[in-house]
Amino acid sequence: MSRIIRSVLIVFLFFPGALAFAQEAAAPAAPFLRDLAAEHNLLIGTSLQRGGLNNPGVRKTAPREFDSLTIENELKPASVSGGPGSYFYIAPDYMIAWGEEHGMKIRGHTLVWHNSVPSWLKKANLKKDQVLAFLQDYIATVVGRYKGRIYAWDVLNEVLDEKGRLRDGKTSFWAETCGDGYIEEPFRWARAADPKARLFINDYGVAVVNAKSNGLYALVKKLLARQVPIDGVGFQCHVAEKSPPNFKSVAENVRRFIALGLEVQFTELDVRIQGEPTPEQLKHQAEIYAGFFEIAVLTRGVTGVTLWGAADPVSWIPGAYNGFGSALLFDDEYNPKPAYFAVKEALGRGRLKNK
Ligand code: G3I
Repeated sequence: MSRIIRSVLIVFLFFPGALAFAQEAAAPAAPFLRDLAAEHNLLIGTSLQRGGLNNPGVRKTAPREFDSLTIENELKPASVSGGPGSYFYIAPDYMIAWGEEHGMKIRGHTLVWHNSVPSWLKKANLKKDQVLAFLQDYIATVVGRYKGRIYAWDVLNEVLDEKGRLRDGKTSFWAETCGDGYIEEPFRWARAADPKARLFINDYGVAVVNAKSNGLYALVKKLLARQVPIDGVGFQCHVAEKSPPNFKSVAENVRRFIALGLEVQFTELDVRIQGEPTPEQLKHQAEIYAGFFEIAVLTRGVTGVTLWGAADPVSWIPGAYNGFGSALLFDDEYNPKPAYFAVKEALGRGRLKNK
């Protein structure tokens, strides 16, 4: 055993406090991400699942770093609606109260999504008018229940196909039963139920200028011209470390939506890594995170960035992408990764953008 290692062991053996000190040295110190983001009037959020909230690491890390909470699954219609007039509120009620207790603003996710149609509704064989009547009642009830407590709703989620056209009936129950009739009214119903909630359209694959984001831009412009109450656009931003976006294009894309008078949020940011991450991959991941946060900090009108999960152990990635993981800012022990420090640095620059 080298003399150095022996001396270190002796220090820890006789001075156990030194061990605690060494562990604490790895822990992040104030100011935390939410403190820095607040200087820009930028919300920094995390999504969480009810199960993740049983985890002490999550309960400690999330409220320390984030001031916005997206309910990851528990406000999706398939989770909430058990049948006509039947609602499951236990999980979202608990999560929302927990977030509020920690001074977090709550994002509602989501009201209309082809991937979260209540199973009873799919089987009910209803006609267009009946489906829309359900949707109106559902939105009035759920948005109304949380009026004043959910500051923003993803009203529509993923309604576009890869080419930027509205989904057709092959991939969307809503398109199948209602044609395009489910696009505008949900915003009006949500506005009526909670006039102060910010209403978003949210999608993936739209962070850069491409066919899909061009379609989104055209759709949103049309909705605005038709007085549809839409306040913001959400870019999900699920990114692979090997394929970062062109950040010039992200910035240009963000700006064109803001020029329409809308706010923009990066609503589901994560950067997945294939295999056991190498130091180079972690560094590259950190640069990608910094790229998003630099745009958020420098562009007036970007109002929030939400990480899709508080830390690697509760990320959706390993379950959805075989062999991928390590997508978030904190590792399996809830220690900050290089990406955390890169975000911190980006938040430390370009102050007071939104003030
Ligand atoms: O809770 C059950 C558990 O009891 C069961 O044993 C297990 C077996 O499969 O499933 C668990 O439910 C899973 C749930 O996540 C909770 O972990 C569902 O199967 C699974 O489908 C669900 O996945 C969620 C997915 O949306 C579908 O709703 C992910 O957590 C969630 O991160 C993901 O989020 C979406 C956004 O809403 C929209 N944008 C894309 C994003 C990622 O797919």
